[in-house]
Amino acid sequence: MKKKKELRIGLIGCGFMGRTHTNGYKRVGDFFPALEYTPVLKAVCARNESKVRAFADQWGYETVETDWKALIARPDIDAIDICTPNDTHAEISIAAAAAGKMILCEKPLARDLAESQKMVDAIEKAGVANTVWYNYRRLPAVTLARQIVRSGKLGKIYHYRANFLQDWTINANLPQGGEGLWRMDAAVAGSGVLGDLLSHCIDTAMWLNGGIKDVTAMTETFVKERVHQLTGKVQQVTIDDACSFLCHFNNGSLGLFESTRYARGHKALYTFEINGANASIRWDLHDLNRLEFFDNADDSKLRGWRSIHVTDGDQPYMDKWWVPGLGIGYEHSFVHQVADFLESLQTGSPCPPTFRDALETQKVCQAVSDSAASGTWKKTGVEG
Ligand SMILES: NC(=O)c1ccc[n+]([C@@H]2O[C@H](COP(=O)([O-])OP(=O)(O)OC[C@H]3O[C@@H](n4cnc5c(N)ncnc54)[C@H](O)[C@@H]3O)[C@@H](O)[C@H]2O)c1
Repeated sequence: MKKKKELRIGLIGCGFMGRTHTNGYKRVGDFFPALEYTPVLKAVCARNESKVRAFADQWGYETVETDWKALIARPDIDAIDICTPNDTHAEISIAAAAAGKMILCEKPLARDLAESQKMVDAIEKAGVANTVWYNYRRLPAVTLARQIVRSGKLGKIYHYRANFLQDWTINANLPQGGEGLWRMDAAVAGSGVLGDLLSHCIDTAMWLNGGIKDVTAMTETFVKERVHQLTGKVQQVTIDDACSFLCHFNNGSLGLFESTRYARGHKALYTFEINGANASIRWDLHDLNRLEFFDNADDSKLRGWRSIHVTDGDQPYMDKWWVPGLGIGYEHSFVHQVADFLESLQTGSPCPPTFRDALETQKVCQAVSDSAASGTWKKTGVEG
């Protein structure tokens, strides 16, 4: 067998995303055997030494670091994978780019547009390979949605609708900030559901339906004060608990987006629907292998929403997995992103979404935040 080229990974952060990415690195070679590159789990970094050692032992990393700067300085690391909270993305990625490392960065790119722009400038100046983990693009049903839209089957698109609903912060006694709860602290997260959840919806929407031109938004913080885990004091909550916005896409269609952590009963209900002149599609993360499709050209007696089980070998990515009819899961989107990143190294082409692509999502997030603050429509500056 031809010897593979190594991509030596330095992972920073060993929480939720540290696990999903590592699973992707471990699985990719088995299911995408033709790739020329193979990831090597060279080092993992987190501040707590005993936790990071336990993670390394469990998942198979060769070495550990407790300071990400030491990790970046190591000559035996090719790619830095950023799985830390949002306030660290800019500093780590700018330093990694300066050291000539490839960068795989978690979303949202950063806390705000200004930070994101600095990251894009640094990465492009360094010319390093990069990608941002907007992983939902790589679920086969979502990729199929893009193929359907691009084929023109939907005709002129009128509406794009997306929701991302959760309920885990309704309890007013839940603290904010610190390990596990940094998403509740605006100084660390940058925003609440806007950057955490809606950024996914915006990335998918612009990938499927083109750029968002302008927005009008509202946000709400339902619980105004919470104990901060790190200080032990009751502090003002400044994240958005809920955020909704209307928008125009550059293609003339209208968008409607809603996200909240106060929708009792919903844990991670990410859905989207696109309505065109000829046909519509809709998708639901809770049933992620299915894409619903309605085609007005069908025989009127048989016409109706059809539920496509996206598990056939000629559907995106599915030739790499089991046999038709057998589904895959959330974790496979990360395996696919690793596979596409490795393939991009072979072909020398970018692996979207790149930092520049993710900057477009940040532009929309910034416009949403500015619109909610001012109560006026805001242009995003996104083209295409
Ligand atoms: N793509 C997705 O669907 C998705 C899902 C969840 C989270 N995320 C993103 O991934 C990132 C991490 O989120 P998570 O849920 O894995 O968080 P987490 O809290 O589970 O894990 C964060 C990890 O980072 C470590 N860490 C924090 N500061 C550090 C520092 N200065 N140096 C080294 N390690 C440090 C923590 O110890 C922890 O191991 C966030 O940017 C988040 O928005 C993306």
